[in-house]
Amino acid sequence: MMWTRLASFSACASIALALGPSPGQIKNLVTFGDSYTDVGSPADGGTAWPIYAAGYGPFKLFPFARSGATCSNNITARPFPSVFESQLPLYFTEKSNGSLVLDPASTIYTLWIGTNDVGVGGLLTGLQKPGVTIVDTVTCAVNWVKTLYANGARNFLFQNMLPLQKTVLYGSTTYPNRYFNLAHNSTEWSLFMSELVNGGNAIGKLQLQALPASLPGAKIGLFDSYGLFSDMIAHPANYLNGTAPLNVTGCANSCVFPLGGQTSVCTVAKGAARDSFLWWDELHPSEQSDRVVARQITNAIQRKSDQWTTWFS
Ligand SMILES: *[C@@H]1O[C@H](CO)[C@@H](O)[C@H](O)[C@H]1NC(C)=O
Ligand SMILES: *[C@@H]1O[C@H](CO)[C@@H](O)[C@H](O)[C@H]1NC(C)=O
Ligand SMILES: *[C@@H]1O[C@H](CO)[C@@H](O)[C@H](O)[C@H]1NC(C)=O
Ligand SMILES: *[C@@H]1O[C@H](CO)[C@@H](O)[C@H](O)[C@H]1NC(C)=O
Ligand SMILES: *[C@@H]1O[C@H](CO)[C@@H](O)[C@H](O)[C@H]1NC(C)=O
Repeated sequence: MMWTRLASFSACASIALALGPSPGQIKNLVTFGDSYTDVGSPADGGTAWPIYAAGYGPFKLFPFARSGATCSNNITARPFPSVFESQLPLYFTEKSNGSLVLDPASTIYTLWIGTNDVGVGGLLTGLQKPGVTIVDTVTCAVNWVKTLYANGARNFLFQNMLPLQKTVLYGSTTYPNRYFNLAHNSTEWSLFMSELVNGGNAIGKLQLQALPASLPGAKIGLFDSYGLFSDMIAHPANYLNGTAPLNVTGCANSCVFPLGGQTSVCTVAKGAARDSFLWWDELHPSEQSDRVVARQITNAIQRKSDQWTTWFS
């Protein structure tokens, strides 16, 4: 009797412990995505989050994310290196020719994608391949897990879309800017963007939840960027620390264009004032926001906190 109770207790305990990687397990961080994650041309006015995360870990960083990327140019064609047609092929080439040697157990793979899929030039402005919807772009992103798993990868952290309707570009109180300077109904844009991001994140979560059954041995986590940025907007003083008044509505590097025009008037925060802003420009998180992302991603990987992370396996 005693033995049975002990045995079933330890079975439960090992299932609980088996969710996600163990503390100290991960040594290598391999990042995929768009300008939110690109370390070569950081879009936050400073240093991109993977560099901070690599330092906080510490982790050895292998950065594959590229600015402008969508999940796949097959479905949302943009002239930038997409995850499926450029970033993954480069990773696979480097792996197969031996220039990249990564131990699956101590390596985690991250993907933060969707901003360009759903935005200007994508779903929002109807420039996707005919018939493509949010279901296809999110399914594509989840397929990144399956594709890397088939190649031997085992640990994954999938970053969902942040509340893009709160950026200046997609917000209801916008102005003509470097990313879009034409007339549009900004109330409708922010409403539609809120639907795309919330709907897409919900579809992604359901699909990720269903993956472990077919991917034995995989550790799959969902990092809730949407929740984290919503909390930063609701409680900026918990995260932002610059010398200017805290600002979650405007941006640190704001350029106002005349409607349809080419010459803008810019207001750029300097030095320590920058860390007061949630957004660096009309579309991108600030460097301080990226430090927060890096800290929370690191905490998730090292299992110091699961506050923004759900491990499905
Ligand atoms: C993109 O299209 C090509 C050609 O049809 C196909 O071979 C490939 O699998 C597609 N990639 C994705 C990610 O759908
Ligand atoms: C492996 O492929 C990458 C990407 O094409 C290339 O930069 C690198 O030089 C190659 N390394 C070897 C050893 O062939
Ligand atoms: C913009 O869209 C909103 C929501 O559909 C609508 O209520 C509003 O009248 C529109 N504004 C203009 C100027 O058309
Ligand atoms: C936030 O920053 C913008 C500049 O992008 C400025 O116009 C706005 O007044 C600021 N808001 C607050 C509450 O300080
Ligand atoms: C804000 O905090 C970060 C650590 O998260 C620190 O690196 C940065 O220097 C701080 N910024 C200011 C203006 O004190």
